[in-house]
Amino acid sequence: MKIDPAPMQPQDIYRLLTGIVVPRPIAWVTTLSAEGIINLAPFSCFTFVSSNPPMVGINVGLRSGEQKDTGRNILEQKTFVVNIGDDSMIEQIHLSAVAHPHNVSETTLLGLKTAPSDHIPVPRLADVPVSMECALRHDIAFGKSGSKFLVGEVLAFHIRDGLCTNNKIDTRELRPVCRIGGPNYASLGEIVSMSKVADVATGPSDRVEK
Ligand SMILES: Cc1cc2nc3c(=O)[nH]c(=O)nc-3n(C[C@H](O)[C@H](O)[C@H](O)COP(=O)(O)O)c2cc1C
Repeated sequence: MKIDPAPMQPQDIYRLLTGIVVPRPIAWVTTLSAEGIINLAPFSCFTFVSSNPPMVGINVGLRSGEQKDTGRNILEQKTFVVNIGDDSMIEQIHLSAVAHPHNVSETTLLGLKTAPSDHIPVPRLADVPVSMECALRHDIAFGKSGSKFLVGEVLAFHIRDGLCTNNKIDTRELRPVCRIGGPNYASLGEIVSMSKVADVATGPSDRVEK
């Protein structure tokens, strides 16, 4: 089967892409409004874009043509926290995507504890395995949807004790949540370990013909 995207509606292309680009990690983002309300929402269009300095990005779309609370708060306040939930938190992650008025805090509604950040006014979630304090460095619009890719420099990593040794996260202990197509999630499956790529013979000239 071949699909030509040219005549397709944007929502159908969205459905196709979100089924193809899987599994996606989830940035569980806390922000602060101008009135000091803590906002929380999940974003699975999320990746890291630089390690020097550390930078991560989320793509925040519009809702009925308006900025979502997260987008507005980040663009106004220039700071945000990317929290990483674990697979015991899937229901709260999902429910935090429900749209509420600007003055309603999802952390209060869902009974999630917050803790102060070290470098920015935006609080982080207290009971998640990882939180990253971020300062907005770039906001970039791609395409015609009005969504913006917001890139923040990580000013501090907060990592649960016992989860990280020599800067290596224990993935099994992290128990990451994966977003797949639609309102569907998955947890970590089998981990397959290979030799380091540098130790593997590469290219035809390295191969020994028998
Ligand atoms: C798991 C999950 C991932 C999501 N990822 C995104 C995303 O990458 N970009 C986006 O704009 N909306 C995404 N959404 C929808 C937002 O979370 C939703 O619009 C939310 O109400 C935004 O909240 P806010 O207005 O408080 O910012 C996602 C929803 C779920 C459940």
